[in-house]
Amino acid sequence: MRERPHRHASRTVPIRAAVITALWLGSLPAQALAQATEGAGMTFSADVAPILRENCEVCHRPGAIGPMSLTDYEEVRPWAPMIRDRVSRREMPPYHYDTDLGIQRLKEDRRLSADEIDTIVSWVDAGAPRGDPSELPPPVEWPSPGEWRLASRFGPPDLVVPSTPYDLPAAGQDIYHRPIVPTGLTEDRCIRAIETKPSVPGRAFTHHANSSLVIETAGGSLRPVGFLSEYALGKLGEIVPEDACRTLPANAFVSWDIHYYPSGTAVPGDRVEVGVWFHDDSEARRDSAYRQNLTLYFLEGGDYDIPPHGKLTTQGFHSFDHPVRIDSWQPHGHLRMTGMALEIFYPQTGEREMISMVSNWHPGWHLSHIYEDDVAPLVPAGAVLVLTAWYDNTADNPHNPDPDQWVGIGQRTADEMSHAWMAVTHLDEEAYERLAAEREARQREAAQ
Ligand code: HEC
Repeated sequence: MRERPHRHASRTVPIRAAVITALWLGSLPAQALAQATEGAGMTFSADVAPILRENCEVCHRPGAIGPMSLTDYEEVRPWAPMIRDRVSRREMPPYHYDTDLGIQRLKEDRRLSADEIDTIVSWVDAGAPRGDPSELPPPVEWPSPGEWRLASRFGPPDLVVPSTPYDLPAAGQDIYHRPIVPTGLTEDRCIRAIETKPSVPGRAFTHHANSSLVIETAGGSLRPVGFLSEYALGKLGEIVPEDACRTLPANAFVSWDIHYYPSGTAVPGDRVEVGVWFHDDSEARRDSAYRQNLTLYFLEGGDYDIPPHGKLTTQGFHSFDHPVRIDSWQPHGHLRMTGMALEIFYPQTGEREMISMVSNWHPGWHLSHIYEDDVAPLVPAGAVLVLTAWYDNTADNPHNPDPDQWVGIGQRTADEMSHAWMAVTHLDEEAYERLAAEREARQREAAQ
């Protein structure tokens, strides 16, 4: 028996083909025919604008970090072919993380779905038609850029630490501004959330702004005590899991690492601010909550050389004498790194589990991949975190500025780096068992 034709022609079928098929089959009632022809072509107003509103405008609107605004048809139309290219290669929105390996449920995941990519591609291929403007989604009310975005959830921050002012020139190369500023905090507190906020005029120039914590030793030197926050535009900030305490120690300083890129307008006295929200019950919490920290995990002790026109793979192994939960993972490398993976090796069984894979690393974007609560890896004591990074110093690597160089470890963009940032919650056996059991119970419930 022949299969019945679908009543509703797929939206990607060109109108004429749909009509002809329907007429030829001669079996569709008039109403279905009308629906088929109506739904056949993708338009900006009905299909593409909603995707751009939700996924691109945050960076592609006036004053934001994107090089052009994409808020209406006139602005978008000239970019259609390039949008098709960037979106289908998953370079835009910037969120470089493999779609077919490891944990896929991530918080603040910017990746488009395969359907959304198909919609954009078929719309461009059909000549990027405007469609009926009455079908446009309502415009997005962007919060005033000067506001803390987490304030809607937690109120104003309990602590704000600004960078020292920097006079941004209108033109020039990368600028790194690295002041060290006291927090003024006189007791240890548990961090609830952190947000980094560039100034409104400086927003488009602030490519990334990282902050870490240092304290002064008795000898007067500064000792690093952990990472505070990593910022790149579009990112909402960080919320520490409810059951964890990430400590901001008394008398700490914020050590800033701000990367500006001048792009057209001078901004005198620019400042970036970091806002911190604390848990009220800090003292009681510190006793009951699990310690969470955000630290660097190196590969190969952080030392190697990549030969000219050569490739390299490095690995790093880390294990704990207590169970842990990995809350987030952020690979870090420079221009020759092409990918990084996080796996867990279980010595008892010999199994190796893929957790996260970035095989399309882009040196321009530094993103933290935050696992959703119910999938954040629970790692038993003694299991080994395996970090693997790949480097390509050949001319095939599009980010490689000079394949004739030896490349070693270093701070400059032209040097390499090899580490991952991970927010890790440190558990005991009892907590590990309990969290695993709670998770299983929720999964059973959801499956019913
Ligand atoms: C987090 C901010 C951010 C988001 C979200 C984002 N972009 Fe971008 N986009 C940028 C920045 C910054 C650049 C310029 C640097 C680069 O190309 O990486 C860029 C570059 C581009 C370019 C290339 C422009 C050129 O001249 O090379 C295109 C096309 C583009 N974006 C389209 C999109 C589309 C479409 C979306 C949504 C589906 C999107 N972007 C989401 C920040 C963003």
